[in-house]
Amino acid sequence: MGEGINDYTQFCVDLRRHMWLAGVDQELRRLIWQIAVMGKYISAKIYESNRKLAGFKNIYGEEQLTLDRGADEILKNQLQYSGFVRDYASEEQDSVMRIGKGDEKFIVTADPLDGSSLVDTNLSIGTIIGIHKDSVFDEGRNTLVAALYITYGPLITMVYSAGKGTHEFVLNREGEYVLSEENIVLKDKGSIYSPGGMHKDWTPEHLQYIEFLENSGYKLRYSGGFVPDINQVLIKKGGLFTYPALKNSPRGKLRLLFELQPMSFIIEQAGGRATDGYRDILSVPVTELGQRSPVYIGSRFEVDKVKDYLKWDNFL
Ligand code: AHG
Ligand code: MN
Ligand code: MN
Repeated sequence: MGEGINDYTQFCVDLRRHMWLAGVDQELRRLIWQIAVMGKYISAKIYESNRKLAGFKNIYGEEQLTLDRGADEILKNQLQYSGFVRDYASEEQDSVMRIGKGDEKFIVTADPLDGSSLVDTNLSIGTIIGIHKDSVFDEGRNTLVAALYITYGPLITMVYSAGKGTHEFVLNREGEYVLSEENIVLKDKGSIYSPGGMHKDWTPEHLQYIEFLENSGYKLRYSGGFVPDINQVLIKKGGLFTYPALKNSPRGKLRLLFELQPMSFIIEQAGGRATDGYRDILSVPVTELGQRSPVYIGSRFEVDKVKDYLKWDNFL
C-alpha cells in the first residue's frame, strides 16, 4: 500500500479507540471525548480573541479575561447536552451548578483556562478537568474517576487518566486526537524544578528545601502556567512543581478542587506523587469550592524529600 490516508488511519490510534481498547467505561469515555472536542472550541476562542484582555474580576477578586469566561461558557453549555453530567463546578462560578436532569452519573470540575494572564505573551495555557462521581466535597481519592488537561501551545495536546495509566494525545491537522505516548511513567527522580511564589514570602523550611534542589543540580523551569509546568514534569519524566504555603498566605495559591486534584490524579497514575507537605493531595478533603492548598507534585524522590524539611508543628 502506498502512502496515504489508509496507512495513516491504520497506524494512528485516536482517543476514542484508545479508551475503548483500554476498557474505559462507556459513559466515561464518551464524556472524556466530548470534553477533548470542547478543547478545539476553546482553542478557536483563544485564537479569535487576538490575545485581548478584559477587566472583569472573578469571585476570588482575580482579573478575569474574556477568555476565561468564554472557555467557561463553552464547557458549561456543551456539558449540559452531554447526557452524562449532573453538576458543573468551575473556578469561574461561585457555586456548583446543576446542569443535568439530576440522575446523571458524573460531576465535572473545571479550571476552564489556566494561566490565562499569559495569553498576551503567547506562552502555553491550558484547561484542567476533573470528573467525579457522587460528590466533590470529599477526598479526591474517593470521588475522582478521571482527570484530563489540554495544553494550547505550539501543538494542542491532551493528557488523560481514567485510572488506567496516563496517556498523551496530540491534535492533528485532521482534527483528531492521536495517541503520542501511552502509559507515561515518571522516573524515580528528575532534574527540573518549578517553584511558585516569591523567595521573600517562602518559609525558612521551604527555602531550605529549594536550596537542597538547587545544590543538587536541578534546573529551574517555571513558566507561570500550571498546565505547561506540570506537563513539562510529566513529559520529561520527572522533577518537581511546587506552589508552597507562603508567610502571608499559608494555604498557598492553587485550588484543590479545580487544579490540584486533577493534576495529582494524573501524576499519581504516572507513578509520581503529590502532597501538601504532610498529606497526599488526594487525601485532603474538600470543604469549600475555592479551597487552596500548598502543593509539591512530581516524581517520587523530590516529593518524598519535602517531608525531611517541613515541620509537623506548622501543619495547619
Ligand atoms: P489561573 O490562570 O487559572 O488563575 O491560574 C494561575 C496560576 C497557575 O497557572 C500558575 O501555576 C500560578 O497561577 C502562577 O502564579 P504566580 O504568578 O504567583 O507564579
Ligand atoms: Mn489555574
Ligand atoms: Mn483559570
